[in-house]
Amino acid sequence: MSGRAWFDVSPSAARLTGSLRDIGYDFASAVADVVDNSVAAGATRVEILIEHDGSDSRVFITDDGAGMSSSGLLEALRFGTRRQYRRGDLGRYGLGLKTASLSQCRVLSVVSRSSKSTVRTCARSLDLDLIDDWDQWVVVDPGNREPAVQRARQWLAEGTGTVVIWQVLDRVLPEKRPEGGWARRRLDTLAGKTADHLGMVFHRFIDGVGDRPQVVITVNGQKVRAWDPFAQDESSTVELPLQRLEVESPGSTGVVTLRRFVLPARDRFSCPAEFERLSGPLNWNRQQGLYVYRANRLVQWGGWAGIRGIDEHTKLARASVEFDTDLDAAFNINVAKMRVTLPAQLRQLIEPAVNELCVLADDAYRKTAGSARSAPPEDLGQPPEVRAATQAAATAGLALRMAAMQVDEWAAWEKIEALLREESPEVVRLLGLTE
Ligand SMILES: Nc1ncnc2c1ncn2[C@@H]1O[C@H](COP(=O)(O)OP(=O)(O)O)[C@@H](O)[C@H]1O
Ligand SMILES: [Mg+2]
Repeated sequence: MSGRAWFDVSPSAARLTGSLRDIGYDFASAVADVVDNSVAAGATRVEILIEHDGSDSRVFITDDGAGMSSSGLLEALRFGTRRQYRRGDLGRYGLGLKTASLSQCRVLSVVSRSSKSTVRTCARSLDLDLIDDWDQWVVVDPGNREPAVQRARQWLAEGTGTVVIWQVLDRVLPEKRPEGGWARRRLDTLAGKTADHLGMVFHRFIDGVGDRPQVVITVNGQKVRAWDPFAQDESSTVELPLQRLEVESPGSTGVVTLRRFVLPARDRFSCPAEFERLSGPLNWNRQQGLYVYRANRLVQWGGWAGIRGIDEHTKLARASVEFDTDLDAAFNINVAKMRVTLPAQLRQLIEPAVNELCVLADDAYRKTAGSARSAPPEDLGQPPEVRAATQAAATAGLALRMAAMQVDEWAAWEKIEALLREESPEVVRLLGLTE
């Protein structure tokens, strides 16, 4: 210690575990952070069970991933797990399992099996009451008589994997009457929200990404459906040319991929129910914007990250910003994986492309039959066949703009539009090429 006087000021376990409960998780995002670990452990099946049983209500998150040895499990329960990460690993701070779980419950138990050939499971618990009493960073053996742990061990008889158990759900259940109907309904509502959230943040893993097998996620036995923000299954969705951008991070340079989509307006969706489903948790308006993916896991959904404002007219514009873990430092990802900051350099680089996208989305929005602005005011007194012809010409105009964008000739197209404006303003009007 270079000959200087030193003093031990290790943190108070009781105080720090208490304050770490409030770093911004809600129930669904806490479950998602635990599922991150399952995905990172190569799981192909993740089952979430949310069981109402009065004050004994509990949550199980079970996976068939690689599992942990008993020493690995102990390390996993350390706040700030000591380990190395490979590129693409979803983990980062060595905190998620503990902070996410204890943001919702007071007792976290983990049961795991890592040997394929031998049925050997290990189990350890973090208990906030014990940590409060002892003011020590302690992990305990939950013992063999704990029914939840017994059930977990039975599930792991089939193969490797991990079961995370949340008990004493003090942040989820009401203090009074946890056995009542209100508490049961609350758990049901949370199960629905969790399924939606997982379907969104893990949609790429559920659909299958790269050479990794698809991951099946269930919540209370129901299979979670992937929610692709870009409606790529809809034939009328338009994708603009992809862009790859180099971004500097302390010590390295990484590549960010930008993909831009104009989603179909309501009347161009395959069916109204799909339009509603694609609306997303915050609805069309607030779901417009950037979808940021870190190593294929969605970490931010919607909003323009300060590049522009939310606007009803651009609600059909959505774009993905994808980066790998080599750019973590540049993106400043927070512990709960619900917020990143776009590097200033990247914001500048993508601004023109985002604005182009919004011009097209605005066009698409104005030209929908359902939009109040679809027909210019002078059309309203026109017979229906004339209105239909105007609509068709406007659709053609939009298609031309989209095509120019798709073949990466937007600058050339702008010149063509400018020339037309000068020389044939009636064609510009007919094609609806207003600014
Ligand atoms: N379901 C799981 N399967 C295998 N290993 C796990 C699982 N959950 C956690 N771990 C191990 O515990 C470690 C700590 O997890 P966590 O606290 O979420 O931090 P991080 O994911 O940032 O490393 C992980 O890095 C991993 O090695
Ligand atoms: Mg983790």
